Amino acid sequence: MDPILEVHNLSLQYRHTPVLQEINLHLHSGQFAAIVGPSGAGKTSLLKLILGLLRATQGQVQLIQDSNASRSAPRLSYVPQVDVVDWNFPVTVQQVVWMGRPRPKFSWPWPTDAEKQRVQNVLEQLEIGHLANQHIRNLSGGQQQRVFLARALVAEPDLLVLDEPTSGVDMRTAENMLHLLLDLNQQGMTILMTTHDLNMAAAHIPWIICLNKRIIAEGEPEAVFTEPILNETYQGDMMVLHHDGLLLVQQRPHEHTRDDVLPNPILGHEADFLTPTTPLEESPNGCATPAVSV
Ligand SMILES: Nc1ncnc2c1ncn2[C@@H]1O[C@H](COP(=O)(O)OP(=O)(O)O)[C@@H](O)[C@H]1O
Ligand SMILES: [Mg+2]
Repeated sequence: MDPILEVHNLSLQYRHTPVLQEINLHLHSGQFAAIVGPSGAGKTSLLKLILGLLRATQGQVQLIQDSNASRSAPRLSYVPQVDVVDWNFPVTVQQVVWMGRPRPKFSWPWPTDAEKQRVQNVLEQLEIGHLANQHIRNLSGGQQQRVFLARALVAEPDLLVLDEPTSGVDMRTAENMLHLLLDLNQQGMTILMTTHDLNMAAAHIPWIICLNKRIIAEGEPEAVFTEPILNETYQGDMMVLHHDGLLLVQQRPHEHTRDDVLPNPILGHEADFLTPTTPLEESPNGCATPAVSV
C-alpha cells in the first residue's frame, strides 16, 4: 500500500489550551478512514492541520506522492461542515464548483469552455447537473452537500477530506451521501472524514480513528468499537450491542431522577409523597418511565 499521509507527533494549542496531543497517523492510498470523537475532541482542528489551514504547535504533516504520479505532491480537497457556509452569498451552483478548480499561476477570472465542461461533468456525476444555474440558497440540505462535494472533486484530489458530511441532514440524505463516498472510494479515491454517527461508521467505514485530544485507538470497526475504547473516547458510559451481524453503539441510559425530566413541578399536597429524587424505572422498550404516576 502506498502511503499518502503521515502525521508525526502533532500537537496543537489554542492560546495555552491543549487541543491535540502527540498525534501519529498514517493513511495509505485508497483508504477510507473516519475520525470519531465527542464535540470538542479536536476533529476539525486535526483536519485543518492536515490541510495546512492551521499551524501545529509541534510535529509535522507529511504528504507523500507516489513516484509514478505526474504531480509533485498529492492534492487535497476539503468539504467543510455545511453549517460554516454562508448560504446567502450570491453564487450559483456552477460558480461554487468552479471555485474549486485547480488554479495555475495565471487563470482568467471567468470559466473557460473546458472548465465549464469539467464542472458540468462533476455535477452530472453527482446527479445535480440540472441545478447548475440555481442559487445555492435555494437547494435542499442534501443538494448543498453535493455541491460542496462537487467543488472538492473538480480539483481532482488525491485525498478527499470531509468534515461531518453526514450531519445536519435527514437520515436518508446522510445515507445517500455516504453511498456516494463509498462509490468514490471504490473508484480509488482516498477519503478521510469526521463523523459523529457511530452506527453508520460501524456499518460502512473500514477504518476508524477514535480521537479525544489524542488518538485513543484506531482500527477496523470491530476492533475499536468496544466499550472500554468508546468510554475512554467519549468519557461516558457507552454500550456496544451485536445484533443480526450489526454492531450498534449507544450511550448507556443513566438512572434518571424526576429532577431530570420535570422542571420544578408545582404539586398539590396530595403529591407530597413524591420526593424530588424518585428514581425512574426502565421500561421494557428501554425508555425511562416514572416509577410512580402523578
Ligand atoms: N479558533 C479557535 N480558537 C480557540 N479555540 C478553538 C478554536 N477552534 C477550536 N477551538 C477549540 O478547540 C477544541 C477542539 O475544537 P474542534 O477541533 O472544533 O473539535 P471538534 O471538531 O472535535 O468538535 C475545542 O475546545 C474548541 O473550543
Ligand atoms: Mg468539528
